[in-house]
Amino acid sequence: MRIVGPEPTSGADVGECLVVFADGGPEALAPAGHTLLDAARIAGVALPHACLGNCACLSCCVEVVSGGGFLSRMEQPERDRLDTAPGLPRGARLACQALVRPGRVVVRRLEQPVREW
Ligand code: FES
Repeated sequence: MRIVGPEPTSGADVGECLVVFADGGPEALAPAGHTLLDAARIAGVALPHACLGNCACLSCCVEVVSGGGFLSRMEQPERDRLDTAPGLPRGARLACQALVRPGRVVVRRLEQPVREW
């Protein structure tokens, strides 16, 4: 199932990213500049986001399976937050912090959601 999201809010990085949720999950076209968490909402994937997208928890953590080059670079606050949870997969990202660029990204929800709260 492919679902198209809202129009981009900024013209800086125009285009869409096809975000595919691995293992038979849905796909979503997310406007560039939106987060993976936005893409999950567009796709109807119930991705937890306990801190409401403020990089203050780990509940939105996903594994990027492929297409990581179509995501924004990881900033220090995200890196610091991920460092608080040893054992995460190599491609772990916080869905609320990773912005999509035009392209195709495959992500996987973590089977054991990270709980720190
Ligand atoms: S929702 Fe809390 S870090 Fe993403």
